[in-house]
Amino acid sequence: MDKLAIIGGNRLDGEVRISGAKNAALPILAGALLTGEPVTISNVPHLMDVTTMIELLGRMGAEATVHEGMSLEVNAARINNCDAPYDLVRTMRASILVLGPLLTRFGHANVSLPGGCAIGARPVDLHVAGLRAMGADVEIEDGYIRARAEHLIGAHIVLDQVTVTGTENLMMAAILAAGETIIENAAREPEVVDLAHFLNAIGGCVSGAGTNRIVIEGVEHLRGAEYEVLPDRIETATFLVAGAITGGRVCAKRTRPGDIQAVLGKLRETGASVVTGPDWVELDMQGRRPRAVDISTAPYPGFPTDMQAQFSALNAVAEGVGAVTENVFENRFMHVSELQRMGASINLQSNTAIIQGVEQLTSAPVMATDLRASAGLVLAGLVAEGETVIDRIYHIDRGYECIEEKLQLLGASIHRIV
Ligand code: EPZ
Repeated sequence: MDKLAIIGGNRLDGEVRISGAKNAALPILAGALLTGEPVTISNVPHLMDVTTMIELLGRMGAEATVHEGMSLEVNAARINNCDAPYDLVRTMRASILVLGPLLTRFGHANVSLPGGCAIGARPVDLHVAGLRAMGADVEIEDGYIRARAEHLIGAHIVLDQVTVTGTENLMMAAILAAGETIIENAAREPEVVDLAHFLNAIGGCVSGAGTNRIVIEGVEHLRGAEYEVLPDRIETATFLVAGAITGGRVCAKRTRPGDIQAVLGKLRETGASVVTGPDWVELDMQGRRPRAVDISTAPYPGFPTDMQAQFSALNAVAEGVGAVTENVFENRFMHVSELQRMGASINLQSNTAIIQGVEQLTSAPVMATDLRASAGLVLAGLVAEGETVIDRIYHIDRGYECIEEKLQLLGASIHRIV
């Protein structure tokens, strides 16, 4: 099982090219199932989760051709089964995103329940409730979601709580439904907007994406298209925190500063200088120790839960005390015990971690538990005294493309132990 070995103490300095967003590429790839004409999706990150999604589409009969630079052509003209089996779904929860497309185009789908993961139970009850509101007959049996619908009917759906993939699944289901669908309390994440732009590119009729009220006018037919996935805002933010935690300077290129305003505000609170351009962000800590910040996660445009572990690591070595409150997932502090092994002074009180910054963390063998916790441990390793070895880094390979190469180019002493 691969590990990452990091020798702490290097101040990062340089530029990093941001990859396409995993959490946009996955719903867009699932959306390719909606049409029988080929779609070409570019700026797709080369990640384990993307490989899993391509394998899932292939098992249904879709053809996926990888072109240079990870541009993918997907042709779903000959889908011969509408099943998403447990062995694949359990390795990638986002597989649930094929449910809406299969149901609305083919009238049936059998998708394994994704099950929970390290950060929480991760239910999909809101996905199912929305499909039932659109007239689907949905049974949960033997660990599978078995959905049937002659033809989905547009509905006025009010989501009990904000759900990113729930909003995306229902948006895709509504694309070919009869009539108008309104999704209230919709997720506003940039990845939801990117999916809406893709759906409109293949002939859908979606408006209001990016607000909490999305309106979809069902259409009869969809076509092929070419589409470029937006840059990954969480990767961008993660590398900026790497600059801040090491007292260095990092310029993230080919990204969208407007997508991480909440994070940039917090980085400025740490004392970092942050300058933005049309498609780049430069953070410069100028050799200073960051100041601790208080974080409270929320759905977009609030502070992203996917950046909570990274800021917990930053607070662990910052000046002062920072309170980190996780409001989205019920168990997203798995990184805390690992940071404590490295000497962090953290007191967990319900869903808040009170973090007293220490001058220096010490290296230790630690274990990754989930994607973003792993990123937090890498950041801690960048500043810990000695060599930190992180085990089970397949978690990190799911969401960060070539993370060690990108960090090496910024001056980090990091390498993969196979
Ligand atoms: C998406 O997960 C992201 N994944 C997650 O990123 C991200 O952390 C999360 O949104 C929140 O921003 C992808 O986009 C592939 P939710 P998702 O449905 O859609 C509850 C990463 O690191 N809920 O918005 O699964 C749920 O339990 C991953 O890249 C229900 O109760 O998250 C949670 O408490 C991790 N019932 C809250 O809503 C439902 O039917 C938000 O979950 C659905 C969700």
